Amino acid sequence: MKTVVILSADSLGMAVAEMLNPMEMKLVGLGDLRAETWNVFSDLEKGELKEEIEGMPVMPVDLAVGLQPDILVIATTDAERSHALEYMAIRAGFLNDIVFIRDIHEQFSIRCSVLRRLCRRLDGLGVEGNVAELGCYRGDTSWQLNALMPERRLYLFDTFEGFDPRDVAKELELGCSEAEPGRFGGADEKKLLERMPFPDNVTVKKGWFPETAFDMEEETFALVYMDACLYNPTLSGLEFFFPRMGRGGVILLTGCDDMKYRGVAKAVEDLETKYGALLMLPVGDLEGTVMIVRP
Ligand SMILES: C[S@@+](CC[C@H](N)C(=O)[O-])C[C@H]1O[C@@H](n2cnc3c(N)ncnc32)[C@H](O)[C@@H]1O
Repeated sequence: MKTVVILSADSLGMAVAEMLNPMEMKLVGLGDLRAETWNVFSDLEKGELKEEIEGMPVMPVDLAVGLQPDILVIATTDAERSHALEYMAIRAGFLNDIVFIRDIHEQFSIRCSVLRRLCRRLDGLGVEGNVAELGCYRGDTSWQLNALMPERRLYLFDTFEGFDPRDVAKELELGCSEAEPGRFGGADEKKLLERMPFPDNVTVKKGWFPETAFDMEEETFALVYMDACLYNPTLSGLEFFFPRMGRGGVILLTGCDDMKYRGVAKAVEDLETKYGALLMLPVGDLEGTVMIVRP
């Protein structure tokens, strides 16, 4: 059994912790630069450690590295952060193996694998309906959806101006995130369409969701990918798409474990309180995606 420390205790670090093979790897702690995540001190000022810690111990990076695990996992996809954490670990005297999630993430994606298999399955079963993405941004996922289901119409929803002030106000009201209006702005509709392998089968719905879906009451969907980060579009997206899914159709909702944007999880919770439990399964990717099936 190898001991492991994960550097960064955010949603990605936690997702990596869930992926560890318990037959081979034992997580002994997480390191993070943000003091508010540390749960190991009884007195932070004096640096006194607690006798008992609830949950997984999260501590400063140098302390975590000082545990001298067999493997240090640097759990960030950002190149600069990855290098900075590696540098800190080496400076703290770490000499064992380092695994960079950034490299693995670049090469392998569970979410892409799920998309490929799911599209084959939906086509094979003959599930009826179109495909949609709510929150398409620059189209990193959209072009894959278009390539995987070329025969179906793909609807791409986005403000193309980033987060809408109305949604941001709701985030602040609910205390779900510190989202800022215009975040993810600067996506370009034309450039997005240029990336599509089958653009004739793509319809861009530009503007604020759910307003952009008002003329689509009669549509049905086989696959919907929801990635809008915030409470409002997640709730209205589920309320709009779920009743319009073909039998056996699937909504992939990403960001359900996101610690920065907690509105996605809150929207699911509120929806389930209102309508009852959804048939919802985690896909086990790094992005905290869940699969919601229309029975
Ligand atoms: C994380 S990005 C999406 C990334 C994209 N799915 C991908 O795979 O690359 C979130 C997007 O949701 C969009 N968005 C958030 N709220 C929205 C709303 N109410 N209506 C339309 N778009 C929205 C934002 O403009 C942003 O482009």
